[in-house]
Amino acid sequence: MNREPRTDASGELRAASQAQPNIALIKYWGKRDAALNLPVVGSLSITLESLWTRTEVRFVPGQKQDRVSLNGRSDEAETRRITKCLDLLRARAGVDHGAEVASRNNFPTAAGLASSASGFAALVHAGARALGLTLSLEEQSVLARRCSGSAARSIFGGYVEWAHGKLVDGTDSTARPLLDAAAWPLRVAVAITSTAAKQIGSTEGMLRTAETSPYQSAWIDTQEADLSVARSAILAHDFDALASISEYSCLKMHALALAAQPGLLYWNGATVECMHRVRALRQQGVPVFFTVDAGPQLKAVCAPSAIEQVKAALRDVPGVLDVLDTGLGEGARAIATDIVEA
Ligand code: ADP
Ligand code: DP6
Ligand code: CO
Repeated sequence: MNREPRTDASGELRAASQAQPNIALIKYWGKRDAALNLPVVGSLSITLESLWTRTEVRFVPGQKQDRVSLNGRSDEAETRRITKCLDLLRARAGVDHGAEVASRNNFPTAAGLASSASGFAALVHAGARALGLTLSLEEQSVLARRCSGSAARSIFGGYVEWAHGKLVDGTDSTARPLLDAAAWPLRVAVAITSTAAKQIGSTEGMLRTAETSPYQSAWIDTQEADLSVARSAILAHDFDALASISEYSCLKMHALALAAQPGLLYWNGATVECMHRVRALRQQGVPVFFTVDAGPQLKAVCAPSAIEQVKAALRDVPGVLDVLDTGLGEGARAIATDIVEA
């Protein structure tokens, strides 16, 4: 590993990065090793373009603790999780400086829009550069995975697969790009039905599911087949096949979580009504399908020609507060440091 510490005028190690959230078409839910954050199943996602996290990290010699501002506020639990992630980078670089972290999401945080994915992909990307660590994208993906599983996938753009991996140390449980965004430029309409943070975060939700849901083993046993169908559909640009396997994986993940005790109900009424609208559109021949993560927002994935019709249909659903519109985007990348607080 090469190290070239990049210091600014005051001797601080500083860098800023942007990453975008990704949405899983074949879902990740469940851990086989909580400490290393290894998944019980592989998963497959698309990285978005217009939603983003921007993060600046400065390591300050002599500073003992990390100081974090997330969306202009500081929260103890969020800071602890960021410190755990920075500790992995500090161990790799052999430094123990505390850091100043400033991060912003331009979309609701902890609400089922994958803020942990873009958040930790951006943090690992910026933190590694600030420390002068030269890491491959796969090494960054493995580190991001340890902080939040879905973050492994946001290191890359376009269509991305995160491997289950075989090794006990988890070094092969990395994400890899499957197809460029430009090769099949689908669009996504995101129906926001609540901006509140979810009551049960994804980490806690999947632990509870593994402990109590009777469907856990069926979930694990059927995932490889789903991944294989989705992979082929993506490589063949077969929209109908991707629509059918993606809705299946989404509803199967929610069925698994609904059957936990107490049951995990991430939807509200508007989420369900949006699902019906999307299916009605598809029955009329519109190329669109839905997916929903651990939160009440519905993502409608569609052909570019259908985006205006899909947005109009979702806007019309009572309880939908806003409809965002995005294409597929690139992976984590460097940005100017003055952009974060702008
Ligand atoms: P989501 O559906 O938004 O991914 P999660 O429950 O998986 O929800 O994770 C939310 C948590 O991710 C937040 O409570 C916070 O700890 C962390 N997080 C969100 N945004 C950022 C960010 N920009 N930088 C670092 N951590 C973040
Ligand atoms: C429903 O990656 O947020 O969005 O690894 O505990 O941080 P942790 O969980 P997280 O879980 C995401 C779950 C999901 C499905 C997915 O993104 O694959
Ligand atoms: Co998350």
